[in-house]
Amino acid sequence: MAIRQLPPNLVNRIAAGEVVERPASVVKELIENAIDAGAARIDVVANGGGLSLIRVTDDGSGMDRGDLALAIERHATSKLQDDDLSAILTLGFRGEALPSIGAVARLTIVSRARGADQAYEIAVDGGRKAQLKPAAIGEGTRIEVRNLFYATPARLKFMKSERAETAAIADVVKRLALSKPEIAFSLDTGNRTTLRLEPCPPGLLDHGLARLGSILGEEFVTDALPVRAARGAVAVEGFAGLPTLHRPNSLAQYLVVNGRPVRDKLLAGAVRAGYGDLVPNGRHPMLALFLALPPDEVDVNVHPAKTELRFRDAQAVRALIVTALHEALGSAQHRATASLSQEALARMTRPPTGFTPQHGLPRAFGFAKRAQAPLSLIALPSAPAHAETAGDDDVANPLGAARAQVHDTFIIAETEHSLVIVDQHAAHERLVYERLKKAFANGGLSRQMLLIPEVVELDREAAERLAASAPELERLGLVVEAFGASAVIVREVPTLLGQGNIQGLVRDLADELAEG
Ligand SMILES: Nc1ncnc2c1ncn2[C@@H]1O[C@H](COP(=O)(O)OP(=O)(O)O)[C@@H](O)[C@H]1O
Ligand SMILES: [Mg+2]
Repeated sequence: MAIRQLPPNLVNRIAAGEVVERPASVVKELIENAIDAGAARIDVVANGGGLSLIRVTDDGSGMDRGDLALAIERHATSKLQDDDLSAILTLGFRGEALPSIGAVARLTIVSRARGADQAYEIAVDGGRKAQLKPAAIGEGTRIEVRNLFYATPARLKFMKSERAETAAIADVVKRLALSKPEIAFSLDTGNRTTLRLEPCPPGLLDHGLARLGSILGEEFVTDALPVRAARGAVAVEGFAGLPTLHRPNSLAQYLVVNGRPVRDKLLAGAVRAGYGDLVPNGRHPMLALFLALPPDEVDVNVHPAKTELRFRDAQAVRALIVTALHEALGSAQHRATASLSQEALARMTRPPTGFTPQHGLPRAFGFAKRAQAPLSLIALPSAPAHAETAGDDDVANPLGAARAQVHDTFIIAETEHSLVIVDQHAAHERLVYERLKKAFANGGLSRQMLLIPEVVELDREAAERLAASAPELERLGLVVEAFGASAVIVREVPTLLGQGNIQGLVRDLADELAEG
């Protein structure tokens, strides 16, 4: 077959495949353009999950007649004046969003340049450009996108439910709004998803948490710790949620690099490492981090959607974030720990007034008496705050005065202003775990030989994996050997886990080894 040069409209549709993955991508591109145009207020409307209508209105610089005609052309941009890709300060720079959108939808742009007395309108419908014509609008730009993907039915089939697309749009608006607190934002989706964000002074750390509160919730604001660190030309600041504040996915993690919201694997990994094991497996902390570095230290030209990055010195960026989070979280733990004095804990084991001893509470808290630090990790988020004003009352203790025990599992305690529910099994696990870690750090875990070695039946691969890791496991206090082809025999266990469920432990270990 002969090679042919593809026609522009087809090229635009192909590009749209990457730039415009779903309605939320259109919203993202249009808001980015409004931000780049210096808007002070950006209003977004999205109907039918963004498939029937997306409208973005801004009060930015607007476009004159000539620029408006060029804006819909491929690779036409006002943002690269000197061919230099190493110093990008705008959100856009590729000049392909508007032509891509125009190729797969019905796009209408109405714009009036600042100071001009005439506005103009241009439209592109499935790649067909209409004549530029005069229009009426205040200074700024209004862009409407109707019937998204009508020109590419294959893509339309991949859309999720209206609700899911609307949620993705709201997520995009929130990320961009968080990165630009000085801009007013609104979002209307025709149903209950709406957002009204008033402008806040720039400088998130210096001017309070108003926008963070509107986006991440007031709960985050009360339970977030300031993060601020710099090394060389790289600086990070923001807020990190307490480890007790976690979510089943990473949607509540907001990462902004040089003013650009990103979803970056390296940064996500650094956040995970920064929290370490303070957050349970499979859960994700909430945070908002703003990274600033010289533009030539980071390449944003990695993916058409511009949400992935490449750092020139990735390790330095990672190390900075990990240390910054360690410091922020460490200081909080210290604060909470200090208030959990031996004395306070001892007092918790004393039956409070109105408490009937047959509930068995003193025994339940017996383990807590011997450990201090880890309890701060299970204290409910509001607890440390009360601890700071601790008086002599039982109710002023960080975990409060125990009032009752439920289902042999939960301890209900009362502090001055709140109710604390402690899952004592989870707390116990945590304490044992902390002790294991400590013993390991202090030179090794003491082992206890089993009177009757325990055989654990597994599948062949799992048994092989365990046997291969035997030397490492031994350092952790667990002595296992291969036992036939698909089982292991456990001879010694860590003393701290003496009474535990050995079968379960070994199976879990085999699973974790499989995950690397
Ligand atoms: N809301 C807007 N206000 C002013 N100018 C705009 C707006 N949207 C787009 N433009 C102009 O149209 C050009 C093309 O936009 P786009 O296709 O998104 O490419 P890019 O943002 O990468 O330059 C921009 O460079 C800008 O000059
Ligand atoms: Mg753009």
